[in-house]
Amino acid sequence: MKTSLKSVAKSNLDPSDETVEVISITHWTDSLFSFQLKRPKSFRFKSGEFVLIGLRDTTETLILRAYSIASPSWDDALLFYSISVKDGPLTSILSKINPGDRVILKRKPTGTLVLDALRRGKRLFLFATGTGIAPFASIIRDPMIYENFDHIILTHTCRMKRDLAFGELILELRKKDLLLRDLNIKKLKYFPTLTREKFVNTGRITALISSGHFFRDAGIGDFSYDTDKAMVCGSMEFNKEMASILKGKGMKEGSISSPGDFVLERAFVG
Ligand code: A2P
Repeated sequence: MKTSLKSVAKSNLDPSDETVEVISITHWTDSLFSFQLKRPKSFRFKSGEFVLIGLRDTTETLILRAYSIASPSWDDALLFYSISVKDGPLTSILSKINPGDRVILKRKPTGTLVLDALRRGKRLFLFATGTGIAPFASIIRDPMIYENFDHIILTHTCRMKRDLAFGELILELRKKDLLLRDLNIKKLKYFPTLTREKFVNTGRITALISSGHFFRDAGIGDFSYDTDKAMVCGSMEFNKEMASILKGKGMKEGSISSPGDFVLERAFVG
């Protein structure tokens, strides 16, 4: 007998599973959704980190995947943004959760897209494709970036206009954040670009950087390893291409143990 999602989410959990309650779920497109989980009081993380989330499937097998936390580290709820893959073992189930269901949340957040992995600089570039916007949704609501950088440039490459909606909502929410009230959040420049629909910016960000259109259209100067720091989150191929572009400008990859000029993380996919 096929088990329904409700019973997957509620009864297929092992008593030792660390579960939390689903507060809400929003479907942005046929394949993109976000969900909010109740944040356990003891759960702490740095903006930009990811955590393991999961469920047990109908055979009681535990399925866990890394998810960037898309809410800021000061928020009461934990927000996540996901693509739903038709036969994806986790996302096909997760995309059907409802408020009140429970999912597994592992309590050890980690990740490389954190400010501690970057040296000091003047401009912070955040390069995302698709659901790679998730860690930056957290970071752009963190007061630290406005305190530490003079300019922040967030780029988001998506296929269609509707794929930008989640990021645009976060940019709006940011305007109401009390913790950002006394900071100059206008120093963040948003540069969305679409690859499969006509738009104000069209084409992959990598191509726009190489052609120089990005700097011209965003009204900013070319990269300088002295002043610029960058975070990159997208597909493996995107990350590789961005790393090569940034290294070509003399920038060095960083980590928490050895801070540098840029950091990379693969966006969650399946
Ligand atoms: P494209 O439409 O040209 O493939 P996806 O939906 O496949 O995850 O991709 C999200 C966005 O990222 C799309 O706009 C896609 O462009 C773009 N993209 C995919 N791979 C790369 C890459 N290597 N460099 C830059 N952009 C990329």
